[in-house]
Amino acid sequence: MEAESFAICGNFIHSTEQAVVETLENKCLGVKQGKIVFLDDVERLQERLSEFGIKENNVIKLEHKEFVMPGFIDTHIHAPQYPNAGKGLDMGLLEWLTTYTFPTEVKFKDLDFAAHAYKRVVSRVLRNGTTTACYYATIDTDATVLLCDIINELGQRALVGKVNMNQNSPDYYVEGSVDESVSETRRYIETIQKKAYDNITPVITPRFAVSCCESLMKKLGDLAAEYNIPVQTHICETKPEVEYVAQLYPDSKNYATVYDKAGLLTDKVNKNICRGIRAVINRDDIDVSLIFFCRSITDTTYFLRSGLLDVQNLLKHGIQVGLGTDVSGGYHPSIIDAIRVAVHVSNAHAITSTNGYTPLSMRDAFKLATLGGAQALSIDNKVGNFEVGKEFDALIINLDIENTHVDVFEEDTLDDCLDKFLYTGTKWLHFPSVFK
Ligand code: GUN
Ligand code: FE
Repeated sequence: MEAESFAICGNFIHSTEQAVVETLENKCLGVKQGKIVFLDDVERLQERLSEFGIKENNVIKLEHKEFVMPGFIDTHIHAPQYPNAGKGLDMGLLEWLTTYTFPTEVKFKDLDFAAHAYKRVVSRVLRNGTTTACYYATIDTDATVLLCDIINELGQRALVGKVNMNQNSPDYYVEGSVDESVSETRRYIETIQKKAYDNITPVITPRFAVSCCESLMKKLGDLAAEYNIPVQTHICETKPEVEYVAQLYPDSKNYATVYDKAGLLTDKVNKNICRGIRAVINRDDIDVSLIFFCRSITDTTYFLRSGLLDVQNLLKHGIQVGLGTDVSGGYHPSIIDAIRVAVHVSNAHAITSTNGYTPLSMRDAFKLATLGGAQALSIDNKVGNFEVGKEFDALIINLDIENTHVDVFEEDTLDDCLDKFLYTGTKWLHFPSVFK
């Protein structure tokens, strides 16, 4: 589809800077070389087709109850943890990492195993409507390059990180030295840059401050600056983790300062600010002011019972928030599920608040899952909604077919269809791969 010019006529739903959700009925949208060239009333189709030289038989006409929406963006997912999705959520974070996660991640140094598992996770994530994902891989460079090859082959947009870990990790899953960790990261970045994939960006990925020493983090901060690439990490997920970091870095005022000192908090930083952040904010406001300068995301891993992220509080502080599944700390590789969990958690805040808390609506969460994710990953100049000039990166949703989990009635409006999809949809008819 990429090279072709085409137009779609029908209903479009997206978020904009100003609008939480805009439902646009009877429109036509034109695409040339993958980019949106017009979005107009359907009555102006002929005029627009000739303006852009798009052929009449390249016009796709959607059904009455169908709609097009931006592809979902998963801002935080661990590809090698997918074999564990839905397993082992009975522990706290640190115990869960050593019991379930590290023994699984180490298996990916076997490239046959990695090829098999990575194909499955990327296909699954795509089938769940995630057209853009920000992945953690493992400490193994070659397997991480393989993940990028697979993502490219399957046609997803992605940021992908080779994980760095040089301390407080099991003997069987740790890098030998700071130098090794840095030179492997450099090798990874240069290999991916040489491949020049259109839609894959390497991302610096210190696992978290527990598993990287100060000197490694500083050198990774330098690499991020040298190659001008983003950074992702975890911060303030659980109380025991925050206490552990305070012990490891007694000279840092708080967790965020550890990253800031290493030069990891740039405006390209994507941090996994989840669960425990509220407690940290309550204890020390400087974390909010530091975080204010970077991007943040939320995820579904309150299944490790780490805490309940107050997304409204982050938004109030002007922090850009996207959604992430955090598989397999989150159990489900689907952003629709993350949308629902974000709303559940927000409702819990509203129920327990004594001063009139307004929870996130399902539509607020839709915005976080699309435009918000694009902003959090600093790719909102390319994707996130249907603004002219952006790439056409979309899902076509049709709930009115057999074998979906939703029943649509004649009286249902387009808005109703969106709500039914967000609350109860699990399957949809088309998922056009946007790149290939
Ligand atoms: N903190 C450090 N590593 C991880 C991980 O793999 N998953 C989550 N959720 N948190 C982490
Ligand atoms: Fe994570």
